Amino acid sequence: MQYQTWLEEIWQKVDNKLSKVAIRSRNKIPYTAIDGVHDNRGEKEIDWWTNGFWGGMMWLMYHATKNEDYKITAEHSQNMLNEALKNYKVLHHDVGFMWHLTAGANYRLTGDKASCDLNLYMASMLFSRYHVHGEFIRAWNGYEQRNWTIIDTMMNIPLLYWASREIGDDRFRHIAEKHADMAIRDHIRPDGSVNHIVEHDEMTGELVKTYGGQGYCEGSCWSRGQAWALYGSVLSYIHTGEKKYLDAAVKVANYFVANCAPTHFLTPIDFRMPAEDEYYDSTAGVCAACGLIELSKALPGREGSMYLEAAVKILQATAESFCNFDESVDFLVGMGSERYPHENTKGLHIPIIYADFFFVEALLKLKNDDFLIW
Ligand code: GLY
Repeated sequence: MQYQTWLEEIWQKVDNKLSKVAIRSRNKIPYTAIDGVHDNRGEKEIDWWTNGFWGGMMWLMYHATKNEDYKITAEHSQNMLNEALKNYKVLHHDVGFMWHLTAGANYRLTGDKASCDLNLYMASMLFSRYHVHGEFIRAWNGYEQRNWTIIDTMMNIPLLYWASREIGDDRFRHIAEKHADMAIRDHIRPDGSVNHIVEHDEMTGELVKTYGGQGYCEGSCWSRGQAWALYGSVLSYIHTGEKKYLDAAVKVANYFVANCAPTHFLTPIDFRMPAEDEYYDSTAGVCAACGLIELSKALPGREGSMYLEAAVKILQATAESFCNFDESVDFLVGMGSERYPHENTKGLHIPIIYADFFFVEALLKLKNDDFLIW
């Protein structure tokens, strides 16, 4: 598939734009943009789960360009995020998103020891959420949700794989694998679609009930959850070499790609919402594209090319229909959606920072950049 010319053109636009936004938004930790201007979610809610993506994207850009402006902004955002460490009770499984992409990336790119220590403490925090009887990592903190898992956690466990390697101790990896095995058993359905939330038996860990979560309804298929499962399973394969995770990723990817084709590779919020709903979620497409590109590397030959082609189609459709390359506008990718809009349209079709992050990450993968931030 020919995409090099397209890739170079898009990459130039992205770097030209982000090199300016990195300076303009330096004192913020953005989540969305209002009238084209980044908000500052860090000021409003420093423990918000997405607060690592801005810094993580700055590290990706720094690694690719060596432009010091990206590094300064990344370091500054990590310093701002330290404030979240003061409130242990509100932190949950998303410490991977928050710190592995910031402190973790910092350490791996600069060797900064304090960042390494901080990331190891966060790995211990995630480790401590392990449910010993149920053999899964608990997602949230409320008593009612004590036996719940969510598919999103598959993107947080790379923090545990890293910690095991870093200290030469398999404890963290064992727990990550236990959780990933549970996700394959209870979240990924036989047809390759994915449950967002699963409630387990307190003592045996067996599946008791599933919930629709941010998707359309119970039994539907929330596309961002599908993307978390896809990329998360490939990452578990990359970190462990276990074929069962590769097989799971293929199954989830096949469902994802087949269901994106009818919408010309623009991702609907839920693959099983009513046919008349014209609701999209750009974040799902760009995250899945990252997983598909890694899948294409793991599966050489014709099979791998198929996943690469699907990833490029998603990225090209996203660039064409959802991206804003105007350098005076702070966000890059629009049309993200927080959830299926049952009650109101708040959070529907808005810029969301992790769409920018995964779009950049996917472009860098296509450019054969060798830094895997996860
Ligand atoms: N982790 C929550 C979400 O994907 O919206």
